Amino acid sequence: MPKHANPFASLPPSELLSDAFARGEDENDPLSRLRSEFVVPTKGDLRNKRYGPQDKADRDDDADESIYLCGNSLGLQPRRTRDYVQRYLDTWASKGVFGHFRELEGGLPPWMHLDDALKEQTARIVGALPSEVVVMETLTANLHLLMSSFYRPTADRYKIIIEGKAFPSDHYAAQSQLAHHNLPLAALVTITPPSAESASAYLTTEHVLSIISQHAASTALVLLPGIQFYSGQFFDIELITRHCHSLGITVGWDLAHAVGNVPLKLHDWNVDFAAWCNYKYMNGGPGVIGGLFVHDSHGRVEQAQTDGDAAYENDTQLLYRPRLSGWWGSDKNSRFRMENKFVPIPGASGFQLSNPSALDMTAVMASLDVFSLTTMDALRQRSLRLTAYLEARLLNYQGGEPPYRIITPANPGERGAQLSVLLNSGLLDHVMEYIEERGVVADERKPDVIRVAPAPLYNSFWDVHRFITIFQEACKQAVVRTLSAENDRSTLVDDV
Ligand SMILES: Cc1ncc(COP(=O)(O)O)c(C=O)c1O
Repeated sequence: MPKHANPFASLPPSELLSDAFARGEDENDPLSRLRSEFVVPTKGDLRNKRYGPQDKADRDDDADESIYLCGNSLGLQPRRTRDYVQRYLDTWASKGVFGHFRELEGGLPPWMHLDDALKEQTARIVGALPSEVVVMETLTANLHLLMSSFYRPTADRYKIIIEGKAFPSDHYAAQSQLAHHNLPLAALVTITPPSAESASAYLTTEHVLSIISQHAASTALVLLPGIQFYSGQFFDIELITRHCHSLGITVGWDLAHAVGNVPLKLHDWNVDFAAWCNYKYMNGGPGVIGGLFVHDSHGRVEQAQTDGDAAYENDTQLLYRPRLSGWWGSDKNSRFRMENKFVPIPGASGFQLSNPSALDMTAVMASLDVFSLTTMDALRQRSLRLTAYLEARLLNYQGGEPPYRIITPANPGERGAQLSVLLNSGLLDHVMEYIEERGVVADERKPDVIRVAPAPLYNSFWDVHRFITIFQEACKQAVVRTLSAENDRSTLVDDV
């Protein structure tokens, strides 16, 4: 059996392609029940021009659930979010500022303590100690805050290594960090595939390690994605981190596409720092507050007796990693003393700046409570099967050579939920128009890629089955349309 054999590949097509098979897979998996925790828009809801759910069906399939495979962009709304947010609104309406401090029966934790309330669950999702994580700010802002602490260029070591196709915001963040330190753009090293065959953006671990080694002597920071947003490649975080450390390089991870998607062990893998958003697989809502991780070894706050130079008599000097600071990162007891003396909270919480949006924290809490109904390991098992099923169905094109290929690694260990499909040139617009019209939500990356992400918390085998039926028909029609457009063009040229 080949190393990455798809568990569904050996099934006879009559079984693999059948309605009954998809239904059976859903029935046999106890995690299928988690779908009911989410609001799945109907096809009519998506077509409706007014905001909110459709109240009157216009078309036959309006009441059918849409096929939402876009959790890699924006996760679906957990049902309980509405209730939690209502409780937040009621608290604010009835208690005003006391909502910050008072424990309320049936309420959410006082807003002042929401950051602590989210730690344990967040830590479980990313494989960290609760003190190593905090829910705060947004992803790009957090990358900057972390780099302000972890990227300390010297005359010898000043380069930042990023991945060539890293999300544009990461490029801008790294470029502007260089500018901030008066360093030239040439100090940004990008890892790109070694061969011209770069459409897939696939990077072998050996290649990543070799580029890092090549620049090691002059590199201060490596910043990589846990899962690549375009190709869906899941990098070997543990191995790359170990390699960087062996060369004396600090390494940070953008986990936008990894958190809530694949199990992570940030503490055990000795990751220096990481940041993520909570709106993709985490289902916290559009643009909601993000999160960050700072390894225990970097979050310590120690006291050193001063030798008498302290600003105050009997003062102690605190030793901690430098950072850009704000009052929310300071010890809770110090916050309202207004003494202008920053006393960092040990761990990731000490990186906080502002009091966080309680509305955002409430939405993230609702999402985390859904995750708490299972474990990341159990979700991963479901995800591996769902994505393998999607892969097997994509590879089983009814009607000759498929006009596309999957650019996400075939090795399940090198990918999460998402498969990125590279369509033959010129097909994307037709395909997207066709599938959207039929209630499929997937994400396009021009010029030719469609990203399809069955999120294990709420997507079903039945979703994948319905997607494939529509998608493959879309491809067939798109091929015919582009061929006839080409014929028309050549007839026109012949006529001229
Ligand atoms: C991989 C990755 N990094 C960074 C970002 C930017 O996130 P934010 O707008 O929350 O800063 C995104 C957004 O989708 C992303 O996918």
